[in-house]
Amino acid sequence: MRILSGITSSGECHLGNYFGAIRQHIELQSKGEGIYFIADYHSMTSVRDAAERRRLVREVALDYLACGLDTERTILYRQSDVQQVCELTWLLTSIAPMGLLERSHAYKDKVANGLPVDHGLFAYPVLMAADILIYRSDLVPVGQDQKQHLEMARDMAQRFNHVYGVEVFKLPEAHILDEVAVVPGTDGRKMSKSYDNAIRMFWPQKRIKKAVMGIVTDSMSVEDPKDTTIPLFQLWSLFASEAEREEMFARAKAGGLGYGEVKKDILERLLEFFGPMREKRAELEKRPDEVEDILASGAKRAQQLGAPVLAEAREAAGLGAG
Ligand code: ADP
Ligand code: TRP
Repeated sequence: MRILSGITSSGECHLGNYFGAIRQHIELQSKGEGIYFIADYHSMTSVRDAAERRRLVREVALDYLACGLDTERTILYRQSDVQQVCELTWLLTSIAPMGLLERSHAYKDKVANGLPVDHGLFAYPVLMAADILIYRSDLVPVGQDQKQHLEMARDMAQRFNHVYGVEVFKLPEAHILDEVAVVPGTDGRKMSKSYDNAIRMFWPQKRIKKAVMGIVTDSMSVEDPKDTTIPLFQLWSLFASEAEREEMFARAKAGGLGYGEVKKDILERLLEFFGPMREKRAELEKRPDEVEDILASGAKRAQQLGAPVLAEAREAAGLGAG
């Protein structure tokens, strides 16, 4: 089974990304042939600085490698190193109905909020379909917000096959990532790079400490019984077992537990949990050439896998001399 997913390099990975996506991506490696790519073509609709784009690709690559991506069995590459995907995007663009693309939430939400939209954002689902279809991927692990894009990819695959009367593309299945882990940010909203409320597991210890100590709470005193549904306890729970959670929540509800103590414990547990990954990342950071080699050989393997499918699509559509 071929498992493919893209990670848009529009920011540095944070706890929300880890518990909502990265951890599950890493776990899925054992279930089949993993193909993961850092989607820098997709980052073009939000990141407009060339040096920043390159930097973010490296950061995300380091993050995934540190978190356990195993390059012996899984392909990791930079999307823009596989240029064939752009050609396939055009082939799909020419059969993608306007009505289908106009229904895309990502595009509609921006328009509804009066934000400027460019054609890249409008055509984004077509590029995403090309990313997936070029490898005849079976399973695509994505967050709930990407489910619609997956349905569009299936639509485009079916339509291309139908229009040219050849079964070139395989219909991919979405694997919706576990939503249990929606991680709140330091201000209580969903943790996101866009809200300045994110905690990054690879920050220097001091910066993590500052962010953890800044997690919002209410103004209850130590003696008061606490509401265990607040973001602070949700964040703490990420690093605790079921039994520990029961014990902590009982203490919180009884009163006598201060928020400062919980924050200190989050910090300790976070540093312990990510300790080995932080060490691995620090080691990898010293060897940038090795990371570049990993991405380059990943791109080579991806090109080899994608080339025959693109060739079939070109043939089906009557492109080139044949
Ligand atoms: P951001 O919100 O920081 O821009 P992205 O939209 O790039 O993050 O998300 C990348 C992946 O990480 C998606 O699969 C998304 O579902 C997951 N993710 C992001 N933030 C969170 C969060 N706070 N809780 C759980 N999962 C998250
Ligand atoms: N659009 C996805 C996101 O924002 C990233 C992505 C790009 C992707 N191409 C993909 C995910 C192909 C799965 C398959 O999260």
